Amino acid sequence: MSLEDDKRLKLLGLGGAVPYGSSERPNNRAPWARNVVVVTSGKGGVGKSTVAVNLASVFAQRDWRVGLLDADVYGPSVPRMLSLEDARLRWNDRDRIECAENFGIKVMSVGMTTPTRDTPLIWRASVSTSAMIQLLEDVDWGELDVLIVDMPPGTGDTQLTMAQELQVTAGVVVTTPQAVATDDVRRAIRMLQQVRIPIAGIVENMSGGVFGSGGGRTLAEEYSVPFLGEVPLDVAIRESSDVGKPIAAVGTEDQKRPYQRMVDALTASLAPIAGEGKSPHSGH
Ligand SMILES: Nc1ncnc2c1ncn2[C@@H]1O[C@H](COP(=O)(O)OP(=O)(O)OP(=O)(O)O)[C@@H](O)[C@H]1O
Ligand SMILES: [Mg+2]
Repeated sequence: MSLEDDKRLKLLGLGGAVPYGSSERPNNRAPWARNVVVVTSGKGGVGKSTVAVNLASVFAQRDWRVGLLDADVYGPSVPRMLSLEDARLRWNDRDRIECAENFGIKVMSVGMTTPTRDTPLIWRASVSTSAMIQLLEDVDWGELDVLIVDMPPGTGDTQLTMAQELQVTAGVVVTTPQAVATDDVRRAIRMLQQVRIPIAGIVENMSGGVFGSGGGRTLAEEYSVPFLGEVPLDVAIRESSDVGKPIAAVGTEDQKRPYQRMVDALTASLAPIAGEGKSPHSGH
């Protein structure tokens, strides 16, 4: 983002005591994470959260130490997708917030900070920005091999915050076959390029059936970025999300495969973890 954007944000009241970063010189609010992957899309409802949760599950099955930050302040969906909708904030004896954990994934979400799971958050963007920073800094994430950030739809404040406050290793852009026809996904790609987040690739979600397929790959070629693969439109994916069990953890081998392939491709863009080729924990 340009200097103007930083100034504009300061006008919004974000230039106070907190030393905010810029996308040219981002802060590193997650020095405990070896890799930071953001899952984004200009468009809502394309399956960002579903992709983020299932990618996290595959990394966990490969013994990576995985954290998943739900950056969707106004519509947090990660807790439900991992059967953590009733998890509430807890502080440990070091006075730091404990992550919730399920399927080997450490999770933090604004959804866990509200008194009840259906409490709406009515916050100005400046408040949600500092909330995000708190979820990075005041939470006891431990050492992570990868922190996955599930973004809200759009190319707005949260996306800018992440680009300014984190050293993002890789951006994953999710599209559906029909969203390829809109400009939203293209805007997301261009934003990542502008804020200098390396694009690890495009995922085509809900591929096949009435929606058709192939647009994600064409889009990847158009912007000269990798294509990470297709996830079929499959009612079992929605059902397993709804009951809080990621399909990449509980599904058949066929259902897990698209996510495994994506992680294979994504891993090439990430910093290797300790004891590569063996268990990441060996040697610790
Ligand atoms: N491949 C798929 N096949 C069938 N249903 C899917 C698939 N991927 C996601 N869904 C379903 O589509 C809906 C939207 O998915 P999800 O919440 O992951 O999208 P999102 O992009 O994160 O949305 P938002 O923009 O609101 O954050 C959910 O009900 C989810 O279970
Ligand atoms: Mg979502």
